[in-house]
Amino acid sequence: MKLSQELLNNLIEITSNSAIACYPYIGKNEKILADKAATDVMRDQLNKLNINGKVVIGEGELDEAPMLYIGEKLGNGEGPELDIAVDPVEGTNFVAKNLPGSMSVLAVAEKGNLFTAPETYMHKIASGNHIPKGSIDIDFTVEKNINIYSELTNKKKSEITVCILNRPRHKEIISELQRLNVNLKLINDGDVSGALLVSDRKFSVDIFMGIGGGPEGVIAAAALDSLGCNFQGRFLFKTAEDKNRAKEMGIRDLNKKYEINEIVKGESIFCATGITSGDLMNGVIKKNEKFITETIVTHNKKRLELIKKVVSLT
Ligand code: FBP
Repeated sequence: MKLSQELLNNLIEITSNSAIACYPYIGKNEKILADKAATDVMRDQLNKLNINGKVVIGEGELDEAPMLYIGEKLGNGEGPELDIAVDPVEGTNFVAKNLPGSMSVLAVAEKGNLFTAPETYMHKIASGNHIPKGSIDIDFTVEKNINIYSELTNKKKSEITVCILNRPRHKEIISELQRLNVNLKLINDGDVSGALLVSDRKFSVDIFMGIGGGPEGVIAAAALDSLGCNFQGRFLFKTAEDKNRAKEMGIRDLNKKYEINEIVKGESIFCATGITSGDLMNGVIKKNEKFITETIVTHNKKRLELIKKVVSLT
């Protein structure tokens, strides 16, 4: 194995600590401060690792953000060369408003194996590993995808649930799903979690679809790849600035549909610690002199694991 168990343990420690750093900001209506607290801890602790890492998915680019920016080097430079995707707080509004579903996320692959995504929107579709690859397609109509899913699973349309961000831009898709009598799981934020809900039938989500953040798409793909699930994405570049930035990043075909194996290759680790409790895991709990965290992990084609950690207050 190229990505070691020691690295995995370190990453669990880091997302756990960055989630804990957010704890004081839950329900404080201060999403920037929450994000900064988590980012500072994540950066500081990644920089202590024996790795030669580079941020490929971050929070903006050097000139724009004081956060973990795309291209930033991480680690002490002495270990393996790694591509790192960071999302110190996925669901900043959830933390600020004390709502379910925020988490602190890292994904790692060997150098050159994780897509460098610009901060634009991405049209995405995901389904579970019980659906044969290539059956459902981002370019099919909503109705065609639902029909295919229904045939493959022997489920009536009224038994199918689609998760989608509740946004005005999805008005037509949502109306179409309603017309088809499909059940909706409308989420207000957090489409990394939304996409991961297709990974296990216990979450009762059949398909995830719609437009959300491109970086979040790459991060979700890293986890879904390990779980053998399906994912496709297409970036949406609207402004001239977006298009230029994409070209600078080496994206030639701006309309390309990316398959999961073009977004993440080889071994990868995905690690997400709950900040506020959600469908996937519990949030940070403070009990006596300790914090208890829950982290979901995928590593090298292994199933989603739930790791509980107890961290003493210092
Ligand atoms: P933040 O945690 O950065 O606030 O992102 C939350 C999120 O809901 C993502 O999960 C999603 O991909 C994106 O925002 C959707 O963007 P928008 O709110 O512009 O529709």
